[in-house]
Amino acid sequence: MSQAARKLLVTSALPYANGPIHIGHLVEYLQTDIWVRFQKLIGNNCTYICASDAHGTPIMLRARQEDISPEILVENFRLEHQQDFAAFHIAFDNYHSTHSEENRELVEQIYTELDAKGLIERRTIEQAYDESAGMFLPDRFLKGTCPRCQAEDQYGDNCEVCGATYATSELIAPRSILSDTAPVMRESEHLFFRLAEFESMLQEWTRGEAVDDAVGKKLQEWFDTGLQDWDISRDAPYFGFRIPGTDDKYFYVWLDAPVGYLASFLHLCARRPDLDFDEYFAKDSTTELYHFIGKDIVYFHTLFWPAVLEGANLRKPTGVFAHGFLTVNGQKMSKSRGTFIAARTYLQHLDPEYLRYYYAVKLSAGIEDIDLNLEDFVQRVNSDLVGKLVNIASRCAGFIARGADGRLAATLERPELYNTFVDAGDSIAGHYAARDYSRAVREIMRLADMANQYIDERKPWVLNKEGKTDEVQQVCTQGLNLFRVLMTYLTPVLPAMADKAAAFLQCGFEHWDDRNTPLLDTTIGQFTPLLTRVDPDKVAHMVADSKAEPATSGDNSSETTPSDDKTTDNNMISIDDFLKVDLRVAKILHAEAVEDADKLLRITVDDGDGERQVLAGIRKAYDPATLKGRHVVIVANLKPRKMRFGTSEGMILAAGEDDIFLLGPDDGARAGMRVR
Ligand code: MSP
Ligand code: ZN
Repeated sequence: MSQAARKLLVTSALPYANGPIHIGHLVEYLQTDIWVRFQKLIGNNCTYICASDAHGTPIMLRARQEDISPEILVENFRLEHQQDFAAFHIAFDNYHSTHSEENRELVEQIYTELDAKGLIERRTIEQAYDESAGMFLPDRFLKGTCPRCQAEDQYGDNCEVCGATYATSELIAPRSILSDTAPVMRESEHLFFRLAEFESMLQEWTRGEAVDDAVGKKLQEWFDTGLQDWDISRDAPYFGFRIPGTDDKYFYVWLDAPVGYLASFLHLCARRPDLDFDEYFAKDSTTELYHFIGKDIVYFHTLFWPAVLEGANLRKPTGVFAHGFLTVNGQKMSKSRGTFIAARTYLQHLDPEYLRYYYAVKLSAGIEDIDLNLEDFVQRVNSDLVGKLVNIASRCAGFIARGADGRLAATLERPELYNTFVDAGDSIAGHYAARDYSRAVREIMRLADMANQYIDERKPWVLNKEGKTDEVQQVCTQGLNLFRVLMTYLTPVLPAMADKAAAFLQCGFEHWDDRNTPLLDTTIGQFTPLLTRVDPDKVAHMVADSKAEPATSGDNSSETTPSDDKTTDNNMISIDDFLKVDLRVAKILHAEAVEDADKLLRITVDDGDGERQVLAGIRKAYDPATLKGRHVVIVANLKPRKMRFGTSEGMILAAGEDDIFLLGPDDGARAGMRVR
C-alpha cells in the first residue's frame, strides 16, 4: 500500500434543509464517511464536503407556513443537520449551503459560459398556474386523474397505480394541492439546457469507470428514449438565485444544487492554503472527484451534471456511486410503525457506533436496498462488537495491568499468527476501497474469532493461577496486539471506539500501515469499557418515541420526487384523507355461505340508501343464520371488487386476525348513519 498519495474530493448528496436527518439519510452519510476515513487512513489526501440544499418550492412554502424567511428556515436546519452528523462522527471537512455567495457566483459563471456557447435555449411553454396561490405549479403540486388508467388522485407527472408517465397537460381534471382549485394554463418563457448536445460525451463517460454496471444500464435506457432539453428556469415566486439578465426568473434548484459541491469546496479553499480550487476543477485536473448519492437522484448526477460541467469547461466526476434505500424490518420507513426514526431520536437512546457498524455489515457497492432489521441489529452488534471484538481486549487487559505492571512483553509469542492478521489487511483494504464494507467486516470478524480461539487455547486465567506470570504476559501481549490490528481495520467504521482503544493502548490509529509493527515493551493505559451491549429495551423506546413525533416533520420533499418515491413514506393520514372514507352503519338483511369458498359469507345489507351485497371473510367466526338483523359498520365508498364469487360492494369492519369480531354501533343506531 505505498503508492503516491492521491488527491480525492468526495461528496455526499446535499440534504434538503427543510426536515430532520433520519436514519435513511444516514445510510449515505455513513457510507461516505467510512470511505473517506479509510482513504485518509491509507494516506490519501482526501477531502470530504457537503452542504445544505436550500432552494426550491417546498422550502419556500414551508417557510411561509412557519411564517419565517426561507433564509432562516434553511439556516436553522443547516445547524441542526451539522450537529446530527457530528454526533454520528461524520467528519466533513466542510459543510456549507447552496444559498451562499460562493454558490451564486459559481452558478452565474457556469450559466454565463453555457449561454455564451449557445447551450441555453429560450422557449415559451404552457404551464399550470394556480391563480389563487399566484404561482406556477411544479408537477408534484398537481393532482388529478391518470389519463391512461383513470386512477384518481395521481401526481401531475406520473401515476402510481399504472406507472404511466405523462405531461401535466394530459392529466384529467387537475387540481392544485395548494388551493384545491383547478389550475389554468399560462404561458411563460423558460430557459432550457441543450442536453442532447452531450449525448456522445455522456455515452463515452458512462462506458468508462465512472459508474457501476447497474447505473450504466439505467443510463442506457435513458439514451434509448432520447435525451430531452432540460428546463433550468422557474418563475417567481421562487426561493433561489435570480437568473442574470431576467427580472423574475430563477435557477431551478437542481441546477444550483450540484454546483453547491463546488461552492462548499471553494469556501473551504479560503481557509485551507493547501487546497487549490482550480487544481481540483480545471478540465485537465489530475485529482479525483467522487459523488456518493442515492439511487433516486442518479439522473441528475450522471446526465445533467457531467454535461453541465463539460459545457462549463470543468472537469467531470471520476465516479458516481449510487446506493439503495433503507428499509426497516423489511418495510418502508413509516411513522405509524415507529420506524421513521430521526437521527436525533436515535441518539437519545443508542450509541451512534452501533448504527455505523450495522450499516457497514449491510453495505456493499450495489444499488440494492438495505434492510435494518431491529432484532438482527441488536444481536449482530452484541455478538460481533461486544462478544468478539471488545472481548479480546477485556480478557487480556486486567492481566497486563495487574500482573505485568501495565507493561507489554518484549516479543510476540506467535509472530506467524500476528502476520496472518497483518497480511489480511490487503484484501480488507481492497474491500473498503470497492465500497464492499460487508466483506471487509466479515473478514475482520473471522480474524476476531481466531484471536478469541487463541486466548481460549492458551487460557491466561489458568496460567495465572499456576503462577506463570511471564507466560500470562506473553499471551495477553499477543492478544492485545491482535486486537490492535483489528481495531486499525475498524477505525473507519468505529472512530470513537478507536479513540478509546488508542488511549488504552497508548498508541494512535493514524495509519493503516502502523499495524505492520507490533506494540511491544511499552506501558499501556487503563482499560475502560470500549462499548456496552445494545439494550433491546432502548430500541423499543426509540421506536415508541418515533411514533409520537408530529406527522409533519421529516418530509424532506423535493419538487421532482413524489415523496412516496423516498422511503420516507409517511403512514399518517390527514383528516381530509380520513374524511374521504365513507363509514356508515348498515343493517344485515340476509347472510349465506358462499359455495366453494371456505371463508366467505355473502351478505346483503341495507346502507340507508338501498341494498348492497358484500362478500365478507367471516365465515369461520359467524354462523350466517345469527347475523340477520344485526347492525354493522361498513366502508360504503370502497370501489366494487369483482371476485370469483361475485362482486363485493363495500367492506364490513371487523377486528382481530385469527379471531374475528364484527364491529357494531351501540343500540339505537340506524342504517345509513355516518360515522364521525
Ligand atoms: N437535495 C437533494 C440532493 C441534491 S445533491 C446535489 C436530495 N436531498 S434529500 O435530502 O432528499 O436526500 C439526500 C440523500 O439522502 C440522497 O442521496 C437520497 O438518496 C438519500 N436518502 C434519502 N432518504 C433515503 C433513504 N430512506 N434511504 C437511503 N438513502 C436515502 O435528494
Ligand atoms: Zn394510471
